[in-house]
Amino acid sequence: MIDGVGHHRVRGVWGFKQWQADVWARFFKMMSMETPAIAWLDGNILALADAKCRVEDRGFLFGDGVYEVVRAYDRQLFAADAHWLRLRHSAQGIDLELPMSLEEIAGIAENLLMRSGLRDAEIYVQVTRGAARRNHLFPTNTPPTLLIWVQAPRLPSVDLKATGASVVTLPDERWARCHLKTISLLANCLAKEEARRRGCDEAILVRDGWVTEGTSCNVLLIRGDLIVTPPTDQRILPGVTRACVLDQAPNLGMAVVQRPIAVGELFDADEIILTSTIMELMPVRVIDGSLVGAGRPGPAYRTLATAYSELTHRRLPSPS
Ligand SMILES: Cc1ncc(COP(=O)(O)O)c(C=O)c1O
Repeated sequence: MIDGVGHHRVRGVWGFKQWQADVWARFFKMMSMETPAIAWLDGNILALADAKCRVEDRGFLFGDGVYEVVRAYDRQLFAADAHWLRLRHSAQGIDLELPMSLEEIAGIAENLLMRSGLRDAEIYVQVTRGAARRNHLFPTNTPPTLLIWVQAPRLPSVDLKATGASVVTLPDERWARCHLKTISLLANCLAKEEARRRGCDEAILVRDGWVTEGTSCNVLLIRGDLIVTPPTDQRILPGVTRACVLDQAPNLGMAVVQRPIAVGELFDADEIILTSTIMELMPVRVIDGSLVGAGRPGPAYRTLATAYSELTHRRLPSPS
């Protein structure tokens, strides 16, 4: 693997070797403090709080960029290849050339993880079309901005996983290329905020009467031994977690059907499960005020979540 960091300038305490990073991480843990996030920006490694980019960056002005979020478990990136391939696919989808190879990006992410001393981490990678005089037209000869940071993961609430989330259905007001993981997330943020205002944990988005996905997760419906989920077209992000779960399903005695889901089907599902890199698997307890199934996490959730946890901790290869 290419070491994309070694030859770059290193600032502050983050130039430490692995054992020194481990000592710091243990110190922060002992003090019940979160290990500070570290970032790679334009070849420099620095504390995330000190990372700055130009106000003319097209990510800042236009939301013109793509991103990925990868989890690390026990010092290993999980399903990293699937995330890097999706990053390239998203970039190609908006005509953006990545500033370096996927292998180099992976090398930087792995090196940052090592330097952070974190065993479990969340890695954020963002590429924008760079900083140039404001103009809707793409700039020429402008290098993209690549930002990568590593921080302690946002762990999904254990209590919420035990009881199940409450969810509201909302209109999907996003654009027509939701298969690309772009940083233009305003419609997702508005829906998530609306869900919170209604006392819910997440929104399931609905377009023309058909379920698409959550604001930051995919949706699986369970009917007996069947997992039903919308197909990966331009209306949803092809989630890496979703792919892992669907891959494993046959070994767990469950069949998978990918087909459009009418919104009404949500209300007579046995179970509803949300999936994402950060949330992992989350059972849904209530939808639009109605209980889902028995109103508690069901057997399919338990089976699939246990299998996913084994997958993340055993570090099996990425889904194909
Ligand atoms: C809109 C949307 N759908 C689905 C997902 C789940 O994707 P993944 O499992 O790759 O994290 C995400 C993750 O952030 C998302 O933002």
